[in-house]
Formats: sequence, structure tokens, C-alpha cells
Amino acid sequence: MLHGKRVILGISGGIAAYKGPALVRALVEAGAEVRVILTRSAVEFVAPLALQAVSHNAVGLDLFDPAYEAQIGHIELARWADAVLVAPTTANLLARLAYGLCDDLLTTVLCATRAPVVLAPAMNSQMLAHPAVQANLALLAAREGHLIVQPDQGALACQEIGPGRMPDPEVLIAALAGALSPRRLEGRRALITAGPTREAIDPVRFLSNPSSGKMGFAVARAAALLGARVTLVAGPVSLPDPVGVERIDVVSAEEMFEAVMARVQHPDPDQRPEVVVKAAAVADWRPAQVADHKVKKTEGEQLTLVMERTRDILAGLGALPDDRRPILVGFAAETRDLDRYALDKLNRKNLDMIVANQVSGPTSAFGADLNAVTLFDRQGGRVDLGPAPKDEIAAGIWGHLLAISPQLGARSRPE
Ligand code: CTP
Repeated sequence: MLHGKRVILGISGGIAAYKGPALVRALVEAGAEVRVILTRSAVEFVAPLALQAVSHNAVGLDLFDPAYEAQIGHIELARWADAVLVAPTTANLLARLAYGLCDDLLTTVLCATRAPVVLAPAMNSQMLAHPAVQANLALLAAREGHLIVQPDQGALACQEIGPGRMPDPEVLIAALAGALSPRRLEGRRALITAGPTREAIDPVRFLSNPSSGKMGFAVARAAALLGARVTLVAGPVSLPDPVGVERIDVVSAEEMFEAVMARVQHPDPDQRPEVVVKAAAVADWRPAQVADHKVKKTEGEQLTLVMERTRDILAGLGALPDDRRPILVGFAAETRDLDRYALDKLNRKNLDMIVANQVSGPTSAFGADLNAVTLFDRQGGRVDLGPAPKDEIAAGIWGHLLAISPQLGARSRPE
């Protein structure tokens, strides 16, 4: 998510500073190059040497350290950064930042940089609720280029329970990636489906397919990073909730149909998604009858299942009247004749774009972290993407959809 990005991690002196090395590891794993700056009090909570070891860079401690300045001057450091994350941000640092004090290396770099700044306030709940802290937070939230990540609720180091915990690394990384991403879908509503569906045979058995949901989850994450309000309708998968996305879990094709249609046909037009991406591998058939009790193998040497067709969600959306029909993106997973079948689905289901992938052979997409796809659009365009990580494929899908759908361009955030 942060491939090739240069990130300064500022750590100020709260107890959550002890999570610094793990946060640096997560940032590096997300692809970032990291330089850490500690405030004087942060050094009481976390060892600079540990941060140097995991970031593979010298740690900045003092504005007037000739050795560090000789390596990278504070202005050079401020220019070097693509983004600055301050985690944890203490009440004291919030105050210094709000009033533009530059009395140590971190605050000086924060004043000198023009890169986006992401602040993760973390402290005791009472301190967080103090009017001065709240006033500083409001001031910084309104400041251009500054993003505040809300602290989590939970057990705090001071043995109180309440708001003030520093969020997990994946939340901070998503906030950084969001701050670095052009908000081209700001104010738009997107609905994504992902994963397989399960069709019951009896209370303990079902028919399904090997879809992992990874591609659909990546499409949802990418839309959220671009600023969209995202609803993710997910079949049974074992993936964590993407940050900043509303997730609705369903099991069967029929449940997925109901969940999608309820949103697309929402009585309030301002709640309806403007774009639907159907990455889910929906079952085409289901057992016509579900046994009430477990089918016993003593019932015979063979079992015959009578199957009936499920409702095609995408075709249902494509058949809506023009003023009700969202922009539609389908997926085509094929084992042969990829182009022919994908183009046939694009036309038959009345789609704006289809993402086609081959699901047999070494480049099979099911469960993998990499994918290679071909996009076909209604205007006759054709684009090959990958092989690349699914997050990059997802960004490419949105990039092409935005290019062919000017009406999808960002509109300002509704008040
Ligand atoms: N799809 C759907 N509802 C279904 C079946 C499929 O919305 N009941 C959607 C999938 O989410 C995908 C697209 O339709 O975006 C293509 O799915 P696929 O199973 O490949 O296509 P089918 O139309 O079922 O064609 P076929 O089985 O003949 O390949």
C-alpha cells in the first residue's frame, strides 16, 4: 500500500511509543522507506537502537545533533518525506503543533514539511476529553494537509477503559495511504461484492467455490483510499475488515441478491451506490431442496442433487431502467476463450466494464496474492493489467473506470 513511499514516523512521549518498532516493521512491510524521529520524552519509552534496527536508518533525536544533521539536515528531511505519521501524538505535541512551536527536531520538521501529516492522538481518556486538547484537535483537523486518526476505545495503560488507545498499524497505514492518494472518488458511493457463496445441501453440507475474496477486498480498499463511501457485501471468507469500509456478510447467492438490491433500490436516492463492482464468484445453481436433517450415507450408494438456477444479480442490475442503473463492473472468471466469453458477458449483462481473468493454469487468480487481468469496456477499450499484487490491480481497475466514466469524477464531500 505504501510502495516506494518515504515516510517519517514521529514518536512522541506517550506509553504507546513502546509499539514503535512493530509499527516501523509494518510500515516497511507495506513498502515504505522509514525514518524515525523521537521526541526527548519518547526516548523514555522506546529504545532508539531498536527503531534504528527495524527502520535501517539512523534515528533523529535532537535538532542540534551535528552528527545527525551532517547525515540529513532537518530541512532536507522535511523535503525528503512523502508523508509524516506521528504515532502516538501526545497532548503536549498536539499543543506545540497547533501553535507552531519548533522547539525540537520533530516539531521543526513538521513545520518545514509540505507533505501530508497524519496524527494519531493516544492518551488517557480524561486528557483526551480536556477542552484544550479538543480545541487543539479541532484546530489541526481544519488545517490543510493534516489528517487525524481517531483513537480506539479500550483498555488503556492507566488501567482505565475508554477512548485513547493508539489504533493498530493497519489502520495507521490505511490512513497514510489515504493521505497520499488522490481523492478521485471523494463523495461517491460504491458497492463491491466479494468472495464465494455457499449453497446448502443439508444443515452440515454446502456447494461452493475456491474464491478467497482477496480481489474484491482489494477493490473495496482501493475505492476507500480514493475517498469513496464503500459498502462491501462479502460471502464467507476469512479476511479482516478493510479499514473505513462498511461490511455486510452474506452466505448464499440469494442473500447476496437481497443485500445488493436493498442498497441499489434504497428509497433515498442519496443512499444508492453510484457504482457497483461485482467481484464475487456467485453460485449459478443451488440445490432445489435443502434437506431438513443431515443426509445419512446409509440412504444409498449414490446421491442425486436436483439443482435450480440462482438469480443473476449483475444481470438484474443491468436490466434496471437507465436512471436507476448504477455504473456496473462485472468479473469474468474463465478457463478458456477468455476474450469471447468476457465480451459476451459485458454485452449480455449491460455492463460498463468487465474484468476478465483466467482461472486455470499457473496464473490462476483463486486465492493468490498476484493477479493478471484484462479490462474490456463498453466503448471498445481493452487494457491488460499485471501480473501484479491485487492491490495494484484494484487501483488499475478504478483508474480505467474513472477514465471511461467522467460522471464518476470526485464531487465535494457532502456536509
Ligand atoms: N454474477 C452475479 N450473479 C450470479 C452469477 C454471476 O452477479 N448469480 C456476476 C458475478 O459476480 C460476475 C459476473 O456475474 O461479476 C460473471 O460471473 P460468471 O459466473 O463468470 O458468469 P455467468 O453469467 O454465470 O456465466 P457462465 O456461468 O456461463 O460463465
